[in-house]
Amino acid sequence: MHNPSPLIPYPATITKIVDETGDVKTFTVEFDDPEVMERFGNKPGQVAELSVFGEGEATISITSSPTRGKFLEFSVRRVGRLTSVLHQMEVGQKIGVRGPYGNWFPYEMMKGKDLFFIGGGIALAPLRSLIDFVLSEQYRKDYGKVEILYGARSYNDLCFKSDLFERWPKCPNTKVYTTIDRPEEGWTGHVGFVPNYVEEVNPSPENKIAIICGPPIMIKFTLAVMEKLGFSDEQIITTLEMKMKCCIGKCGRCNIGSKFVCVDGPVFSLAQLKQLPPEF
Ligand SMILES: Cc1cc2nc3c(=O)[nH]c(=O)nc-3n(C[C@H](O)[C@H](O)[C@H](O)COP(=O)(O)OP(=O)(O)OC[C@H]3O[C@@H](n4cnc5c(N)ncnc54)[C@H](O)[C@@H]3O)c2cc1C
Ligand code: FES
Repeated sequence: MHNPSPLIPYPATITKIVDETGDVKTFTVEFDDPEVMERFGNKPGQVAELSVFGEGEATISITSSPTRGKFLEFSVRRVGRLTSVLHQMEVGQKIGVRGPYGNWFPYEMMKGKDLFFIGGGIALAPLRSLIDFVLSEQYRKDYGKVEILYGARSYNDLCFKSDLFERWPKCPNTKVYTTIDRPEEGWTGHVGFVPNYVEEVNPSPENKIAIICGPPIMIKFTLAVMEKLGFSDEQIITTLEMKMKCCIGKCGRCNIGSKFVCVDGPVFSLAQLKQLPPEF
């Protein structure tokens, strides 16, 4: 089906819903016209606009890797009106999807390197698309050791538990570290904040790229640790989250200096971020 405007969403159906935490659900979505998926061509790190018809749209990272099948997955935190309506929806109901938007993780540049993923809370969602991409049968040989360090406030706040505790640890040359902020009955794993755990794990910067995504406070302290460990600005990749509306570089809601996060980002290296106005 030809889409006459980039702002018109394609109809899609919710085919699966997973409760990740008390306020995060992962929606699996399939386009009603399978040809749309053929052309969609999303790459790890890109976002889409999800619409609940008659309610509005929200910018959400595509958390599934294109290597996993002819569906898209979105992990959505219930924060406001639109996301609350989405959370009440059920399998079989229709939503709209337009995209994919933005740039993607520089997975070509990462080839031959070890990867160290650092995620906090729901911000594992954009990283998950790249993690599944590099761990796929198709691309695993192109990358070195893959380490994933992820933390959330409590066990219940950890997203993607089956990936963290079952799927990813079984992949070759892959290690998963999880942590929660405070001790909890029944939790025998690591306790403490993400930046401190990174320092404990002490990754060597040699031939390594760190990909970091989390709440601003986590990013701030993690960047300080990475600097201490000897990572250069070019070895650190992150994604920005700004309020967005059009996602096609027209409305100006997401600009930072001369850049639009929706077309120039959301993925930036720390070296690129340092060229932006001081608040970033
Ligand atoms: C690049 C990008 C990727 C994103 N990926 C995801 C994702 O994978 N999963 C997910 O759950 N959310 C993601 N978001 C955030 C998501 O777009 C917003 O939370 C959502 O649009 C809020 O919709 P709402 O109508 O329910 O909330 P509203 O009723 O519009 O707002 C509720 C509250 O959330 C705040 N808020 C709304 N939008 C944003 C925003 N973009 N950044 C910070 N605060 C905001 C508002 O200030 C308000 O306090 C992403 C945003 C961007 C820009
Ligand atoms: S969201 Fe409209 S310009 Fe970026």
